[in-house]
Amino acid sequence: MAVITNIQDLKRIYERRVPRMFYDYAESGSWTEQTFRDNTTDFQDIRLRQRVAVDMSGRTTAGRMIGQDVTMPVALAPVGLTGMQSANGEMKAAKAALDFGVPFTLSTMSINSIEDVAEYTQAPFWFQLYTMKDEDYVRRLIQRAKDAKCSALVITLDLQILGQRHKDLKNGLSAPPRLTPKTIANLMTKWRWGIEMLGAKRRNFGNIVGHVKGVTDTRALNTWTAEQFDPTLDWSKIEKLMEQWGGKVILKGILDPEDARMAAKIGADAIVVSNHGGRQLDGALSSIRMLPAILDAVGGQTEVFLDSGIRSGQDILKAVALGANGTMIGRAFVYGLGAMGQVGVTTALEILRKELDTTMALCGERAVADLGRHNLLVPEDFRGRWQS
Ligand SMILES: Cc1cc2nc3c(=O)[nH]c(=O)nc-3n(C[C@H](O)[C@H](O)[C@H](O)COP(=O)(O)O)c2cc1C
Repeated sequence: MAVITNIQDLKRIYERRVPRMFYDYAESGSWTEQTFRDNTTDFQDIRLRQRVAVDMSGRTTAGRMIGQDVTMPVALAPVGLTGMQSANGEMKAAKAALDFGVPFTLSTMSINSIEDVAEYTQAPFWFQLYTMKDEDYVRRLIQRAKDAKCSALVITLDLQILGQRHKDLKNGLSAPPRLTPKTIANLMTKWRWGIEMLGAKRRNFGNIVGHVKGVTDTRALNTWTAEQFDPTLDWSKIEKLMEQWGGKVILKGILDPEDARMAAKIGADAIVVSNHGGRQLDGALSSIRMLPAILDAVGGQTEVFLDSGIRSGQDILKAVALGANGTMIGRAFVYGLGAMGQVGVTTALEILRKELDTTMALCGERAVADLGRHNLLVPEDFRGRWQS
């Protein structure tokens, strides 16, 4: 097997192993994909200050996110259909993350259910909530997350309506894949994926099927989900959900200082500066470019995490040195999972930690907590030449 040295290596193996429909689902942004591309390239605009003759022994990447100890400031982001990237994908990714010492977030739109993951990991994880019109279903979903001892509720705010990703429409994305001549031809080249998937615990949405009246097959499910995302979600509804949950809350999908201020005001324990990995509003600025203004706006009243575009330990260091309390990764762990299952997720996390640790050392730092603006060279116009 080829020597794997970075996240892009995992992506190449992932592309070979997983059906095209699911590779494309992960590897795309909405419409022109401008924001999707900017999320990664904008990290490269920030450069690092090399320091020498500093004792670099006894380094640590450990930190804390919403009061939880983490071995590095990274959580696995909620990713829908993870169980289609690899059989029992959510169970595998959760186990890899929790064994590594970083939080795992289960998506509402997961294949494995909340209960599957809780039983398999025997450890608390975070649960991500999409707000649906069916209030009774949402109430029960929150209760199921409480019963599973989830340690935080991540409420996603940037998907009240679905951004269009052209490839998903062209590929006829579905879970499990519908058998058409095109998908059959592609699946025949992915036999390892197919054999593993035959033995999977589930092949459609585990948090929904069997928990909503009338949704028993894939067709009914597609209709239900297409109609269910709640377009009326507003700050008062968010406050009600926070009350229902009664525990730690992370508000995800904040990209504007005013929204960040509002999230802090209603008492979010953390916010995630995110544009959903470039999958929603095409034309929005990258998360890393918006981070400084959002940090200024909240002024330490809530923890600030960042996702969208992280592909290396250097990216993590840049976000933290700008002032983020932590980061989340989506595709970086999906590549590992699709390439090599649970071991692949662990490999992705090890790559990121090694890169973070080495970068920290070469910047003359021994602890994540000591990182700051002094480690960075940020272009004068990094906040952008755009006026609102
Ligand atoms: C394939 C895919 C599915 C996603 N599904 C969800 C989801 O179900 N819920 C959610 O809040 N975010 C979802 N996201 C967004 C991620 O949580 C995260 O914000 C994003 O992946 C970060 O960007 P990155 O992939 O560049 O790291 C998804 C992202 C991807 C790539």
